[in-house]
Amino acid sequence: MNNKKKMHNSVLLKESIKELKIKKDGLYIDATFGYGGHSKLILKSLNDNGMLYAFDQDPDAIAYAHTIKSNKIKIFHTRFSQIYKIACNENINGKVDGILIDLGMSNVQLQTASRGFSFMKDGLLDMRMNPQLGIPAFEWLNKEKEKNIAAVIKNFGEERFYKKIAYNIVQQAKKKPITRTIDLVNIIQRIIPKKTGLKHPATRTFQAIRIYINEELNEVNNVLLNAVKVLKKNGRIAIISFHSLEDRIIKKFMNNFGKMKEFPSNMPINEIQKKHFCKPILKIFKKIKPSQDEIYNNPSARSAILRVAEKK
Ligand SMILES: C[S@@+](CC[C@H](N)C(=O)[O-])C[C@H]1O[C@@H](n2cnc3c(N)ncnc32)[C@H](O)[C@@H]1O
Repeated sequence: MNNKKKMHNSVLLKESIKELKIKKDGLYIDATFGYGGHSKLILKSLNDNGMLYAFDQDPDAIAYAHTIKSNKIKIFHTRFSQIYKIACNENINGKVDGILIDLGMSNVQLQTASRGFSFMKDGLLDMRMNPQLGIPAFEWLNKEKEKNIAAVIKNFGEERFYKKIAYNIVQQAKKKPITRTIDLVNIIQRIIPKKTGLKHPATRTFQAIRIYINEELNEVNNVLLNAVKVLKKNGRIAIISFHSLEDRIIKKFMNNFGKMKEFPSNMPINEIQKKHFCKPILKIFKKIKPSQDEIYNNPSARSAILRVAEKK
């Protein structure tokens, strides 16, 4: 883990921390600690009265978090959808000044062949961010119905060749179970040949299976309202997402809770009721994308979008 090359390149680091408007004595939650890029910057800004709660579902990330020597950090091995429960247990519900959620994967997860996330490295096709939870991707692929595999690849990967890929996975699994990343890459490459300059043909399928295995969209859906509940008035939430499916959920949530609801003019509702029911609970800020410089230095930042909101 000390190998510098393997560590994570934090995306939109300065921008997201600036938007959180860190108070020296504030309470913060980094819901996706990863390799601590954002957490370390938050910790730097806190005095002895400030506190950072760091979450991650990956035991390797948590092991790394425990190497940080600071009495201003509390570490939780958890999914971030548990944010409300943890805040209640810790007696910080409604007291939190800021929450950061940096979705997706860390470089360490991607580069560690044995985790099974990479189509560039051969390893056991596991793909669980928390290997203690759920079933590995290969186990799912070997037993799942073709139509369900096809639906995952279509919906979460937006892959045109989803039907052919699913068919070939199931045919292959009947002959000899799929266990390695290379097994899946070979199936996909027989259907979509690799072309120079274009994305690797396995990109979308790997992304789709990872999203499914880790229930990533459910997690995003479940965390948003709970995170807002945990915030104090004027507390901020900053979320960095990396693909359109996640961003759509975040944008819709922010719009739902950040904009005044329009009631049909013929609805029998008076001005006081209107004020009470239609009051937006979030102030939304303009979305932020990485600079050209950041993308040049870290191409995996290219699809990142940062959305920020403040609790009213
Ligand atoms: C992009 S990395 C975070 C990088 C971090 N901000 C940094 O600068 O080092 C995303 C991290 O979120 C974790 N993660 C993803 N989904 C999660 C979830 N539902 N609950 C908790 N952690 C999650 C992953 O295990 C990974 O370590």
